[in-house]
Amino acid sequence: MEIRLALIGFGGVNRAFAEILRDRGPDLAAKGHHFKICAVCDQRFGEVVVQGGVDLCRLTETTSDPGAFASLVGGGTSCDVFSILARSGADVAVEATYSNRVDGEPALSHCRAALELGMHVVTTNKGPVGFAGHELTAIAAKHNRSFRFEGTVMSGTPVIRLANQCLAGNPITGFRGVLNGTANYVLGRIEDGLSMSASIAEAQALGYAEANPDADLKGWDVALKVTILANMVMGGSLVPENVACAGIDELTEDKIRNAIHEGLRWKLVGEANRSPDGTIIASVSPQLLPTDDPLYGVSGAANAVTFHTELLSAVTVSGPGAGKVETAYAILSDLLSLK
Ligand code: HSE
Repeated sequence: MEIRLALIGFGGVNRAFAEILRDRGPDLAAKGHHFKICAVCDQRFGEVVVQGGVDLCRLTETTSDPGAFASLVGGGTSCDVFSILARSGADVAVEATYSNRVDGEPALSHCRAALELGMHVVTTNKGPVGFAGHELTAIAAKHNRSFRFEGTVMSGTPVIRLANQCLAGNPITGFRGVLNGTANYVLGRIEDGLSMSASIAEAQALGYAEANPDADLKGWDVALKVTILANMVMGGSLVPENVACAGIDELTEDKIRNAIHEGLRWKLVGEANRSPDGTIIASVSPQLLPTDDPLYGVSGAANAVTFHTELLSAVTVSGPGAGKVETAYAILSDLLSLK
């Protein structure tokens, strides 16, 4: 069965996803998975709508110049997300635009609109899930559709489905993890002797950092991920500001290097635990870890999270936490999981 996609946003992640489909489309088709991109829009590049399917080679060759989509068949320079969604005829909206840290907009409205139009929504955007994950899931259910967001936590490393499907029936009482690739990469490079600013520049060049790297360094990105896990895996109802938050910007280069000489490492740790009264207490903070801590060895842009469960005790998953291709893979895995 063919699944028609509308890509909302064509930054690094959705571009990498289009490249995955371009390169692996035939293999996926041979396994019965036929994906067709029939619409793409981006505030910078414009829009392209082709009911029969956008030419993926031409799409992925477009430059990063403003209005670049005008050169494509079916392309133009305007970009009205809501109009594109309505005209696309897509089965799934793949949302990878931008969300602010106040209310998750504009991505939240894009997700809501696509679901109300009766589409499935796959997003790698943390804002909509952190601010309105339960609401969006309910709208999807009302229309007998799915709202999927595997890429919002630890990029393509399976975390959300691992918790909700593989650990189904095994209540999660808490979790603790290294959940930001940029902060972890920066800590490691400072340990190597680089300055904080040079380390951040490297993380930006590698495509790990948020548009505003303060989100990575001040812990806001982890607070959003902790909110997503607390709500969508543990059934909580937190908003990001409920998460007590401190970031690695509170550390100095000397403090980070001195720790290594004492056999310790600073890590930015996000955690949440269910209290006896049922409420969930969540926080993000730099923590000084000894060698026997399971998070001590998580290096570079890798992430790891340990779920504390009633029937299996601790279950840990580790893998890439950031990166364009790694996050784009989460989109593919979400699409393959749609019923
Ligand atoms: N800036 C984020 C990180 C991207 O470094 O982890 C992935 O969510």
